[in-house]
Amino acid sequence: MQAFVLERYGKRGALQAVDMPMPELRDDEVLVEVHAAGLNLLDAKIRNGEFKLILPYRLPIVLGHDVAGVVVKAGPRARQFKPGDEVYARLDDFRIGALAEYAPVKEASLALKPKGLTMEEAASIPLVGLTAWQALVTKADLRKGQKVFIQAGSGGVGTLAIQLAKHLGAFVATTTSTTNVSLVKGLGADVVIDYKTQDFEDVLREYDVVLNSQDGKTLDKSLRVLRHGGQLISISGSPDPAFGQEIAAPAFVKLVMRLLSSRVRRKAHSRGIAYAFLFMKANGSQLHEITRLIEAGAIRPVIDRVCPFESTNEALAYLETGRAKGKVVVKLK
Ligand SMILES: NC(=O)c1ccc[n+]([C@@H]2O[C@H](COP(=O)([O-])OP(=O)(O)OC[C@H]3O[C@@H](n4cnc5c(N)ncnc54)[C@H](OP(=O)(O)O)[C@@H]3O)[C@@H](O)[C@H]2O)c1
Repeated sequence: MQAFVLERYGKRGALQAVDMPMPELRDDEVLVEVHAAGLNLLDAKIRNGEFKLILPYRLPIVLGHDVAGVVVKAGPRARQFKPGDEVYARLDDFRIGALAEYAPVKEASLALKPKGLTMEEAASIPLVGLTAWQALVTKADLRKGQKVFIQAGSGGVGTLAIQLAKHLGAFVATTTSTTNVSLVKGLGADVVIDYKTQDFEDVLREYDVVLNSQDGKTLDKSLRVLRHGGQLISISGSPDPAFGQEIAAPAFVKLVMRLLSSRVRRKAHSRGIAYAFLFMKANGSQLHEITRLIEAGAIRPVIDRVCPFESTNEALAYLETGRAKGKVVVKLK
């Protein structure tokens, strides 16, 4: 099968298109014929070597986290899905490989593809949809009437998080640049701050939840727009010790996480704000909940562009410009 393989870490290095043997299927996995694969900045960051501490992959690996396709074979302990099912998933860490013609997927990470979505649309959802779910539902327990600030509303995570927060009944503020103001308003954002002309710190007050996806300076400013008792959930920057514990990181990695996050944890504590770093995980049952919201019309995919599989390196380079409006997907079938 054809696959895009990471042979050595390196900034902006290219993935190699290679012919590989079919992947071996584990008992609790199904084999998916990949029709489309969603790209994520995580793919670029792993390629660059930025995730070596958190995800110490031994190379070579097939890259890619999000798939949509058709089940062609089920392992002996996989009982929920059968050949012919149209499915989608965020592949598990250390079992990634969406950028290939076939991908083995743990059954517990899989969900049926939402009816009415194309394969490309479905492949755009899992990683960012689950990130929004795990931040707003699992961690924040966001409630009707609460105020949430979702940064970068026009990005992959932002476009889904705005829609999910609106579905939960929250009041949503977001940041974007001038050209994307109508996009985020169309997704339901109540307050849109054009970060090119305004500073969100001058506009937002007493927010219940902030979903931070930007740099350290933005993380600091986020603390100042939260109310006492509010929650700051960060999906970028340095992981905190709780996350180190969760992934059973080696002691020195936990120490690095403790040191790097100490400033924001201390500041949050002094303001009575709960701070948490989130690194999303594959989860088939949460993805099933997202399927239901998509089928009910509460959430729709936002796709910037669909590229041919052969152009995977160029598609990833485009995503890395940081200008994508929603998702970038590669099409295999
Ligand atoms: N920890 C986790 O589990 C997790 C999960 C998913 C993503 N992430 C991380 O979260 C970040 C966002 O991911 P993503 O997939 O949403 O990225 P993305 O799709 O590449 O985001 C691109 C968008 O960001 C907007 N943007 C850029 N700079 C901005 C700024 N200063 N203020 C507001 N908007 C800005 C751009 O809009 P303009 O063109 O208008 O500037 C563009 O639409 C990345 O660092 C990613 O690695 C972490």
